Amino acid sequence: MKTAIITGASSGLGREFVRQIADVFPEVESYWLIARRADRLAELAETLPGKTVACLPLDLCDAMGFMALQEKLTAEQPEVVLLVNNAGCGYLGRIGEMDTASQTRMVDLNVRALTAVTNMTVPYMASGGCILNVSSIASFCPNPRMTVYSSTKAYVSSFTVGMAEELRSKGITATAVCPGPMKTEFLDIGGITGNSKMFAALPYCDQVRVAGGALRAARAGRTIYTPKLFYKFYRALAKVTPVKLMVKFAKT
Ligand SMILES: NC(=O)c1ccc[n+]([C@@H]2O[C@H](COP(=O)([O-])OP(=O)(O)OC[C@H]3O[C@@H](n4cnc5c(N)ncnc54)[C@H](OP(=O)(O)O)[C@@H]3O)[C@@H](O)[C@H]2O)c1
Repeated sequence: MKTAIITGASSGLGREFVRQIADVFPEVESYWLIARRADRLAELAETLPGKTVACLPLDLCDAMGFMALQEKLTAEQPEVVLLVNNAGCGYLGRIGEMDTASQTRMVDLNVRALTAVTNMTVPYMASGGCILNVSSIASFCPNPRMTVYSSTKAYVSSFTVGMAEELRSKGITATAVCPGPMKTEFLDIGGITGNSKMFAALPYCDQVRVAGGALRAARAGRTIYTPKLFYKFYRALAKVTPVKLMVKFAKT
């Protein structure tokens, strides 16, 4: 069965991806929705009439979460036409001042889980399959006070570019979407709301438009997609400016 797997489907951008997948990938018959909050996934499943939906309430920071996904892939042998690696978290705080569990959770979810889910899913993808990884404008330059988060997103973008080249011969594409700030639960969970002048000043992206644009970019096989002209300019600037200078203006 032609399947889409979406991590972090229970809120924010992930939920928007799920709502819009049928518009861009009409061939998808089956959805595998992954996040920890089962009730939210069940609610979302009800909005997908006529589709087969599996809600997988997994904690992707836990190795058992990966094993459950691996077991389901092995048992069901789906044809995965779209993998959306969207689950992610970002906490505001300085190195040595924030608790270690929060710092390492960003690495566990944004890097380790994304890598594991991708590696176990690619064998179930055929030519024409698309991988869409959610990166961030934070990947363009390290952001002091969110240094770990921006480093994890630099990994996501770099991983995507390398993987796109590796998988080209198989006809599988990989796309990284790099949104600016969006008004989702991410901001409160990360302790960003009310605590960052930079976040208060930046133009916000609308997650509905980001999701649609990113799905179309994935379908077109683009490798990096940056929504909003302002952030396309920021990306270009970050490419030509020495990072040691740029980092002084990229404080969160
Ligand atoms: N919002 C922004 O300003 C912004 C900007 C650029 C990029 N991004 C990126 O966009 C992506 C989506 O974030 P969002 O803004 O939509 O935030 P969000 O509403 O907080 O969504 C995060 C999603 O990840 C899931 N998740 C968190 N921890 C998990 C875990 N341990 N195991 C499984 N799933 C987990 C959450 O579900 P459960 O809590 O139910 O597990 C939720 O569905 C992230 O990768 C983020 O880094 C966000």
